[in-house]
Amino acid sequence: MPSFNVSVVPLVLFLLCLLSFTSEADRQLAHKCFNQTTSIANSTYRTNLNQLLSSLSSNATRESGFYNTAAGQNPNTSIYGLFLCRGDVTADDCQNCVATATKEVVQQYCPSESAAVIWYDKCILRYSYGPSFFSTTDEEHRFYLGNGVNATDLDSFRQLVLTTMSELVARAANASYGAKKFAAKEAIFNESQTIYSLVQCIPDLSRSGCDSCLQGLVTKLAACCGGQLGGTYMDPSCILRYEMYRFYQIQSTLELAPTPVLLPPPAPGQRTRPKGKSLIPLLRIVAIVALIAVFLILFAMSYYLLRRRVRKKFNSLLDENGNEITSIESLQFDLATIKAATNQFSDDNKVGRGGFGEVYKGMNSVPTGWN
Ligand SMILES: *[C@@H]1O[C@H](CO)[C@@H](O)[C@H](O)[C@H]1NC(C)=O
Ligand SMILES: *[C@@H]1O[C@H](CO)[C@@H](O)[C@H](O)[C@H]1NC(C)=O
Ligand SMILES: *[C@@H]1O[C@H](CO)[C@@H](O)[C@H](O)[C@H]1NC(C)=O
Ligand SMILES: *[C@@H]1O[C@H](CO)[C@@H](O)[C@H](O)[C@H]1NC(C)=O
Ligand SMILES: *[C@@H]1O[C@H](CO)[C@@H](O)[C@H](O)[C@H]1NC(C)=O
Ligand SMILES: *[C@@H]1O[C@H](CO)[C@@H](O)[C@H](O)[C@H]1NC(C)=O
Ligand SMILES: *[C@@H]1O[C@H](CO)[C@@H](O)[C@H](O)[C@H]1NC(C)=O
Repeated sequence: MPSFNVSVVPLVLFLLCLLSFTSEADRQLAHKCFNQTTSIANSTYRTNLNQLLSSLSSNATRESGFYNTAAGQNPNTSIYGLFLCRGDVTADDCQNCVATATKEVVQQYCPSESAAVIWYDKCILRYSYGPSFFSTTDEEHRFYLGNGVNATDLDSFRQLVLTTMSELVARAANASYGAKKFAAKEAIFNESQTIYSLVQCIPDLSRSGCDSCLQGLVTKLAACCGGQLGGTYMDPSCILRYEMYRFYQIQSTLELAPTPVLLPPPAPGQRTRPKGKSLIPLLRIVAIVALIAVFLILFAMSYYLLRRRVRKKFNSLLDENGNEITSIESLQFDLATIKAATNQFSDDNKVGRGGFGEVYKGMNSVPTGWN
């Protein structure tokens, strides 16, 4: 039955698109799992772990982008955990990242270990069975993700990266205990290149704890890869990253300059986009609205066809009474057009999804552990 196909194809595509848009996940950069659960595997442990992860996940809407907690009765056998979101991300992005991390860490990355650290593009999640690790640094387990390409002007590039980082470390470490220890800066290298940098510590570190954590990373950067056109340095308690593009979402005075924007400015009186909100959710809404529109048009067309079929039967009946017949050819031609239209729709959809996929592509190479 042709009209059935015509109305179901777009519906299925529409639902598939919705699924692909809502499952946009954060990018896992690196992870480290410790200590097999074999010696402690019992139901109390699992219950505690689930409780810990769900309480971290449900607290991820906090403005601070940080939360630490423990689950369990006996402090020696509790599970301690924390998450930290990158200092610039919105509460929504933070929540999505922590939700992804708490799910993937046990299902995918560390299913049989009792301690884990996992770094995502926008958040860090860490937990451990046993004594608390809060307010301590762990310099044993660091990761580095490098761009792999050296700057042409290697020495002056490295110099600028290191100077910028030293300044950022001083700023981030200067924040008092419990405050957001985050600093970002853009440094102009030459007419065509700007270096975007950020550093961040877990807020439960002391000033000196944060300073020594970040200094450890800057030392690595100086010794190894500071000449590369981008890099991410991860420690369980702090991170450092720089790129040649604006990877963070901080609104600076520079952004308020009349530069070309992707979307028309909001009408007067309308609320402006929240500070630091990325364009992706807006694009997603536009795409979904467009899909709904296409779906409605196709639905209307198939409805029209159905009506024509009914009218055709009616006409055939009338034909015996000498009335005009609706030709079968014209009906088939219409169907062919609609089939072509749905094929085209399906191709467009693929291209659209490819576009979203590419946002995450080609940023960095494979993680390399230092230890
Ligand atoms: C792993 O287990 C050892 C011995 O029980 C302990 O000392 C260590 O802290 C544990 N590692 C982590 C990351 O919890
Ligand atoms: C599970 O582990 C906890 C803490 O190690 C312990 O107190 C409890 O007795 C254990 N339960 C079982 C059923 O082994
Ligand atoms: C945050 O976590 C605590 C447990 O540590 C939990 O009791 C509380 O409900 C959570 N907050 C929210 C907003 O869910
Ligand atoms: C926790 O461990 C410490 C040292 O191993 C021990 O002295 C203490 O009694 C333990 N606490 C509990 C509640 O079991
Ligand atoms: C980048 O420069 C470093 C020296 O700072 C050198 O050891 C390395 O081989 C260079 N890498 C590439 C890909 O040229
Ligand atoms: C700016 O620096 C980059 C990286 O070293 C280099 O590739 C580029 O040619 C430089 N541009 C100018 C205008 O000097
Ligand atoms: C550190 O903070 C104090 C105020 O708390 C401020 O006066 C000082 O300039 C800050 N230092 C840096 C390097 O940001």
